[in-house]
Amino acid sequence: MPKPMIRKIAINTGGGDAPGLNAVIRAVTIAALNRGWEVAGIRDGYNGIFLPERYPSGGLIPLTRERVRGITHLGGTILGTTNRGNPLKYPTMGPDGKMYEKDRSDELVDAFRLNRIDGLVAIGGDGSLTIANELAKKGLRVIGVPKTIDNDLEKTVITFGFDTAVSFATACIDRLHSTAEAHQRVMVVEVMGRYAGWIALNAGISSDADVILIPEIPYNIRQIAAKIRERDTYGARFTMVVVAEGAKPVGGEISVISKELGRAERLGGAGERVAQEIQEATGKETRCVVLGHLLRGGSPTAFDRLLSLRFGAAAVRALEDGKSGVMVALDPPTVRYVPLEQATRRMKSVPLDCDTILTARDLGISFAD
Ligand code: F6P
Repeated sequence: MPKPMIRKIAINTGGGDAPGLNAVIRAVTIAALNRGWEVAGIRDGYNGIFLPERYPSGGLIPLTRERVRGITHLGGTILGTTNRGNPLKYPTMGPDGKMYEKDRSDELVDAFRLNRIDGLVAIGGDGSLTIANELAKKGLRVIGVPKTIDNDLEKTVITFGFDTAVSFATACIDRLHSTAEAHQRVMVVEVMGRYAGWIALNAGISSDADVILIPEIPYNIRQIAAKIRERDTYGARFTMVVVAEGAKPVGGEISVISKELGRAERLGGAGERVAQEIQEATGKETRCVVLGHLLRGGSPTAFDRLLSLRFGAAAVRALEDGKSGVMVALDPPTVRYVPLEQATRRMKSVPLDCDTILTARDLGISFAD
């Protein structure tokens, strides 16, 4: 493939933040500057380039060595992010006064051209990478980098941010064990993960949980109660239940807080629902702890830092090689490139026959199925 002429690239971070975003930004910036390219960071997802009027001091931040110095270990994103205002489904008022979703991706592509941007590194989850894929189809040179604490992206073994979320959830559940045991209570811990159970599964097994509820395996409250009673009979008078926010009972629905035009639905309340049901079914004192956004904050683990730096550098190599419409993916021991189309086609759920599920079952952990 002939090497393209690149003078200036842009980086954006979209959707919910995840530990490791700043490490990717640093790696992309340094690797690009080393090739003599200019680098611009787009503020707040695509807003900095799409809605420049919102930014009196400029929606594009020139990224220099100084700007990205000492950020590898920082959580959040120096560019800002948003999960509102998806340009493919932009909330717009129709002539009838009603709001509907409009595809404004052509305007976005024009904005890139106007700013003389030759390539984009789009760092995001399924939503942001779907937008990136559309931009690539419309002729923009785009490389995607898979970010999400949920680990629900296809075609990569892991996304950055996931390891930090699992490590922190594990540490929290470890702490909750001692207080649950001291009070002989049932402790329900709700973790994020959207429609996939990766965080609940990995953190639950790592912290010796007794019950793990994930969206992929609808739960039966009677099975949870049976597990609690079984533990009581052999003297373990406390029980640790880890609940993915997307968990649902057999024949029931996921707990949704809200649905808004132009953004993904918000989940929440699964842990509290399970806690109430457990208390009613067993009479045991039950408490619910929601870890929520704590899983997204803080410093990335060494694993996530390294993965993020590898992904960022690989994205720049891909641009240099003339690739577009692909996502950087981890395929141990290496990183490779997969079409964005394939990576965003469907969500990566926990396979029911994977060895992690089998390990949990072998250890006597209940999925309440
Ligand atoms: O996708 C990442 C994630 O943290 C999910 O686990 C969670 O459901 C969602 O984002 C929360 O998003 P918000 O930032 O809108 O609360």
